[in-house]
Amino acid sequence: MRKLFLTLLFILTCSIYSNAQVLTSPDKKLALTFSLNTNGEPTYKLAYQQKDVVKTSKLGIETQNVPSFNQGFTLAKSETSTFDETWNPVWGEQKSIRNHYNELLVTLSQKSVQGRLMRIRFRLFNDGLGFRYEFPVQQDLTYFTVTSEDTEFQLTGDHKAFWIPGDYDSNEYLYTTSKLSEADGWKQPLISNGTNQENRPDRRAVQTPLMLKTQDGLYINIHEAALINYPAMQLHVDPSNHLLTADLVPDVKNNKAYLRTPNHTPWRTVIVSNKATDILSSTLILNLNEPTTINNTSWIKPMKFMGVWWEMQIGHSSWSYADNEDAKDAKGGLIPHGHHGANTANVKRYIDFASQQGIQGLLVEGWNTGWEEWGAEKEDKFSMVTPYPDFDINEITRYAKAKGVMMIMHNETGGGATSYERQMDTAFRFMNKYGYTSVKTGYVGRIVPRGEHHDGQWMVNHYIRAAEKAAQYHVAIDMHEPVRPTGLQRTYPNFMASEAGRGNEWNAFSAGSPPEHETILPFTRLMGGPMDYTPGIFKLTKYAKGDSLRHMHTTLAKQLALYVTMYSPLQMVADLPENYQAYPDAFQFIKDVAVDWDNSYVLEAEPGDYLTIARKAKDKNEWYVGSITDEMARTAVVKFDYLPKGKTFEATIYADGEDASYDKNPQSYAIRKIKVTSKTVLKQQVASGGGFAISVK
Ligand code: NOJ
Ligand code: CA
Repeated sequence: MRKLFLTLLFILTCSIYSNAQVLTSPDKKLALTFSLNTNGEPTYKLAYQQKDVVKTSKLGIETQNVPSFNQGFTLAKSETSTFDETWNPVWGEQKSIRNHYNELLVTLSQKSVQGRLMRIRFRLFNDGLGFRYEFPVQQDLTYFTVTSEDTEFQLTGDHKAFWIPGDYDSNEYLYTTSKLSEADGWKQPLISNGTNQENRPDRRAVQTPLMLKTQDGLYINIHEAALINYPAMQLHVDPSNHLLTADLVPDVKNNKAYLRTPNHTPWRTVIVSNKATDILSSTLILNLNEPTTINNTSWIKPMKFMGVWWEMQIGHSSWSYADNEDAKDAKGGLIPHGHHGANTANVKRYIDFASQQGIQGLLVEGWNTGWEEWGAEKEDKFSMVTPYPDFDINEITRYAKAKGVMMIMHNETGGGATSYERQMDTAFRFMNKYGYTSVKTGYVGRIVPRGEHHDGQWMVNHYIRAAEKAAQYHVAIDMHEPVRPTGLQRTYPNFMASEAGRGNEWNAFSAGSPPEHETILPFTRLMGGPMDYTPGIFKLTKYAKGDSLRHMHTTLAKQLALYVTMYSPLQMVADLPENYQAYPDAFQFIKDVAVDWDNSYVLEAEPGDYLTIARKAKDKNEWYVGSITDEMARTAVVKFDYLPKGKTFEATIYADGEDASYDKNPQSYAIRKIKVTSKTVLKQQVASGGGFAISVK
């Protein structure tokens, strides 16, 4: 009887999954199964070394004006292929990247809708899975509106999760580490990016990249790649059965995306490994993006830059020139309040310092009109071409050029995206005229067009329009408050960095971020691309005017390590010149460290706890190591086996002092030199909230 039952079960299973298509990764560790269930609903599952990572999960897209693409399908065609190519990014963590995957493309037909077609393309790499929906040109389908996406990730247990709430307008939250079932976004305090409870209506939604760890030590990272013409995907968590469902950021009409054939969604990505270091080394998201079509990329240059910036963050000067728009003299000119940071003399002081120290760039914020009322919800806030009266742009341009410093433009929009679109050509022509080769943009506040969200389809396209427009004028772009990155830097290499997460600046204007923050970011925010985190703060306490209790949550040595652990081709040298002058020996590391790399080696890592990364500078025989920890002091183990064999090098170690800790003695550091070879294994003590940096020459 039992045997008969099992046989019947077997036949039944086979018939339900008779359409099952199996794909394995090049190294055979991952297996993807696609099948249609009895209702003709597409499903997939993913296994790693024979163990389920994602159990059978549904796929589909729901639409408004045509029948949904989520059931009644039959398999019309199934094709497999293999791809293996090595490509060279314009800049990056390594100079060449292997793009090696096996692909399964299923063409599904919906009988009840005149045989209408949808395709799902799966790519299985050694480091994980990517898949997307595709809508080919066909009769009876042209325009359609997506109302929701049914993509599921049926996890196998209540994994440990590193998450931030599903806010449509901000990703500048602290990460919570909890069981997935305990994720509750409403328990996190609201933050200020034009956000309120309406912008995170689902308390059970979390943002991606979502980092997970199973009880048996498997690391899983869920995100997306090549987010273009579609809203960002968040994930709704069903706490009772560990089911994640795609949750798209809506527009003002609660629609999600407006599409036209031929079209496709972004890639949904699942990166998997039993080693945390592999998650950080993954190139899957970049590989799923399209190669760039920019032929001449010689104008795109990684660099370090200072800023007339931190002094505003800590309240020493201000962005604005006057107290408010109505503070005007008889001639109608603004009456200055006297603490405007972007004045010519102050800017020259920074130019002098950057020039002396060999820091290539200088950002100046608050140089243009509009800062008096920038918090208001109005359409036109800023002029991108009108300097305040005390910012002599001709003189500053001349002076910077004479001193060999590249000026960096600042275009804060205050959320006014329509206003920015109208001004873009004029703004970029202005940059060309005055020799600015890069721009930092910003979207603090509610988005205009009103009702749009930072992470919705309209804004996703806006950010790309800005990057394309910048490229047209040979300007590199660094965006603050955009949607989080999805590897688009491969396609738009002038889109060099973004903030899109909680940066170092939160330590200036709030209670700050705990020491574990920088050990989580590489596993979450940075999975999609470089972050303008603004490291390098040397004065760690008593810096904030009016709040002497405020402090950085790192040691000084950890600030150095961040130049290596937080990858970005645009790296800020964020503190004030006088604070670097106070620690010239430690500042040497910032002057030396590279921003573009031949190769990167993740030596040790655990999300939320620690990481150690070594990188080889691009086209140079120099290596830099960064290691950080959370609030727990530890001993890091640093290997040097990536160094050429049989040679001896000098390593300079910038470590925490013996008595250092982020809360009691953050300024304490010790610098020493040792000889290293490829066989050296260094054990280095790291203080609570500390880190160390090493340069090898
Ligand atoms: C927020 C950005 O993150 C910060 O860097 C900038 O200074 C302000 N907005 C003003 O634009
Ligand atoms: Ca921890």
